[in-house]
Amino acid sequence: MDTRAILVAAGRGERMGATRPKAFLSLAGQTLLERSARALGAAPSITAVVAVVPASDVDEARDLCEALAKPCVVVAGGERRQDSVRAGLAALPSGFEGVVLVHDAARPLVSIALVEAVVQAAREHGAAIPVVPLADTIKQVGDGRIAGTVDRDRLAAAQTPQGFRLDLLARAYERAFADGVVVTDESMALERLGLPVACVPGSSRNRKLTTPDDLAWAERVLRADLGA
Ligand code: CTP
Ligand code: MG
Repeated sequence: MDTRAILVAAGRGERMGATRPKAFLSLAGQTLLERSARALGAAPSITAVVAVVPASDVDEARDLCEALAKPCVVVAGGERRQDSVRAGLAALPSGFEGVVLVHDAARPLVSIALVEAVVQAAREHGAAIPVVPLADTIKQVGDGRIAGTVDRDRLAAAQTPQGFRLDLLARAYERAFADGVVVTDESMALERLGLPVACVPGSSRNRKLTTPDDLAWAERVLRADLGA
């Protein structure tokens, strides 16, 4: 089954406190966009990548994409993450039938094994996402007080790449937009229609880089990989 990746990289990355959009920040000499695009392109099942970047950075991203081993198109993203995903979906070839993976450029350390696990599960079940267990006990809070404790065994943190048969994702997205709903990941758009989404084990290495501390953590991980 033909499988393509949409790499969402159009966010501003406000919590990084940098002047450049987050995906264009350097991690050990390569931008997050470059690293995530290479990681997706290195997965045998992925045949092509759609990179969604800020409108002002499309030209720069095109140069970078030319160096990728797989075909890559670059399009401008939108205001919210879901607008960027929709722009990516619109850039798929017409008549495309297959699986689409949506991945955050802010997770540049994703492994080939995880990409392939999501692809396999999405092909089998129609929809699949990586999840990781929570380390902390999670509380409900309000008015500066603890209102209760959530059963941690029933919770997990969602990661990307999230994989879907295109027909399911397109339907779920159309409905979310028609209903004026904000979704923070793709899975949520399917869940609200009652469509099943399978879990695959995520990875602590596949952390979303949000703050300068996260970037420093990723630098250390890459340095440790090199045995430095
Ligand atoms: N994203 C996007 N378009 C948007 C918002 C987010 O393509 N309008 C992408 C980001 O580039 C990122 C991924 O979605 O790769 C996950 O979003 P997040 O980590 O929250 O990135 P930002 O929204 O850029 O960061 P922040 O929320 O800290 O401003
Ligand atoms: Mg954000």
